[in-house]
Amino acid sequence: MYRSNHIFWALALFGCISIADGETKKHVVFNNIECSMRNKVFSRVDCHLQTRLALNIFATINDQKAVDKLMGVCDVKIDPHGQQKMIRVRNIKLDFCQLKKNTENGYIIGIYYSVIRKAIVDFPDKCPFQKNTTLAIKRLHMGWQDVPKYMPLSNFSFFAKVYAGNELGLVVKLTGGLYEFSNVSGYKYP
Ligand SMILES: *[C@@H]1O[C@H](CO)[C@@H](O)[C@H](O)[C@H]1NC(C)=O
Ligand SMILES: *[C@@H]1O[C@H](CO)[C@@H](O)[C@H](O)[C@H]1NC(C)=O
Ligand SMILES: *[C@@H]1O[C@H](CO)[C@@H](O)[C@H](O)[C@H]1NC(C)=O
Repeated sequence: MYRSNHIFWALALFGCISIADGETKKHVVFNNIECSMRNKVFSRVDCHLQTRLALNIFATINDQKAVDKLMGVCDVKIDPHGQQKMIRVRNIKLDFCQLKKNTENGYIIGIYYSVIRKAIVDFPDKCPFQKNTTLAIKRLHMGWQDVPKYMPLSNFSFFAKVYAGNELGLVVKLTGGLYEFSNVSGYKYP
């Protein structure tokens, strides 16, 4: 009983905060996304911004061969506003075969997985991913709740290589920034 009350109040509070309007908040804004296919892992790839705050990626496995390993290797460059120093994070690995399991530990990597997990609606539960299956990441976004408070306002570029086993299948380039604003309506259109 105590526990369910506790959850209720936590949710109520969260609801109030998230409808409080006109407050300045940090948002991850996307400026541009580009995907290019390599080899024949995928037969079709479509990456686009739905708004400046949400992006979609659809990738169809080719119709010759199922995929039993799919791994993203990501590099992020963060350029904090008004500072000389660039922050680089290299080799962040994302295992698409394990995406639906909760195995990661670590705070930042946990955020990263949970943001992606919220965006994979029609996604097979585990590998192998069958031929001609479309893997969809829809409306991926990072709101103020997802961003650690200490993250500086910044521009970033994100570069990911997606491998099926040893074969490079897809390269994703994404640029954007962590900006602070209260009115999201300027960011509705890509
Ligand atoms: C961040 O990126 C945007 C878009 O590329 C650019 O217009 C802006 O000047 C950049 N800001 C800083 C502080 O580098
Ligand atoms: C692949 O899937 C699409 C849509 O699900 C279907 O129209 C098409 O015939 C399939 N192609 C093959 C080779 O199975
Ligand atoms: C937000 O910006 C839009 C146009 O960019 C404007 O029409 C609207 O009134 C603004 N809303 C608030 C609450 O300031």
